[in-house]
Amino acid sequence: MLTRRTAIPVETRSPGHAVELPSVPLAGTVAVWHAREACKDAGTQRPVSSCDLTALRESLLLPDELRHADRIRNELARAEFVTVRALLRVILGHCLGLAPRRVVLKKTATGKPYVPDWCNPQRLRFNVSHSHGEILIAVARGFEVGVDLEPVRPLANMDEVAAEFMTPDEAFLYDISGEKKPETYFRVWTRKEALLKATGLCLQLPLRLTESLSRRVTIVRPDSLARPRPGEYSLRSFTTETGALAAVSSCRNDFELRHHEARVLDTTHHKTEQTS
Ligand SMILES: CC(C)(COP(=O)(O)OP(=O)(O)OC[C@H]1O[C@@H](n2cnc3c(N)ncnc32)[C@H](O)[C@@H]1OP(=O)(O)O)[C@@H](O)C(=O)NCCC(=O)NCCS
Repeated sequence: MLTRRTAIPVETRSPGHAVELPSVPLAGTVAVWHAREACKDAGTQRPVSSCDLTALRESLLLPDELRHADRIRNELARAEFVTVRALLRVILGHCLGLAPRRVVLKKTATGKPYVPDWCNPQRLRFNVSHSHGEILIAVARGFEVGVDLEPVRPLANMDEVAAEFMTPDEAFLYDISGEKKPETYFRVWTRKEALLKATGLCLQLPLRLTESLSRRVTIVRPDSLARPRPGEYSLRSFTTETGALAAVSSCRNDFELRHHEARVLDTTHHKTEQTS
């Protein structure tokens, strides 16, 4: 896994934060930023301290995002939302040459966040997935992307759910997986989710008609849907350092994945890295 680190400071009112950033994604590549345990203290498994979150909120989020965060009751989910938005603004701002709070974020009718082209000369396309304190942000130039992340875990009703969303070939693979059933389940799940997030269609995509096992996938589209056109999407899976399964999809025939790490650093760590 190729991981590049370039530490750059992020303006925060409270001292002690920086996000490591690589350069703008190259043509034909999908840059995937992974933030591990971004929202949990590794020792206590609690959200990062209120001081950390306050710094992120005040320096990076916009008023409507703050209002949205305040409506999230679950503490970890709120921390995850704030951290995702903060990292997203920093990463996109870096690629666009803008201060994080100047990045314009909109949502399509089906809820997929995007940066409008009038303020997006790089034609950046991105997608986000977050689960259990882990965050993936995929960014590409000029082509749509989707990303999904899930920790592998046993589920009580796994067989029933698998039967609902898998194609016959996927179900066959799942059935013969033995003790690796959870891994197969989440591999197929993340690939389908990444695919439907690349299209932006979400639940309108007929999952049981969409084969996810190959590297290139043809989207089967109900006639009632105007977008996207049926076409070739490509899919790649990988495992994160924590063992979670992840998938990235794009509307290109193929793409190269570049892995990067994004994390909130303390000042000491940041200074050490810059001077070493
Ligand atoms: C958005 C959706 C696709 C993914 O949700 P999820 O897996 O629970 O959560 P993830 O963390 O992976 O993705 C959430 C992010 O996707 C993005 N998103 C929202 N709507 C989207 C859309 N239409 N297309 C692409 N991305 C979208 C947002 O950035 C969102 O972040 P936010 O929660 O901070 O706003 C979900 O709403 C959904 O419709 N899931 C389908 C469920 C299903 O049956 N899946 C079968 C899989 S085989």
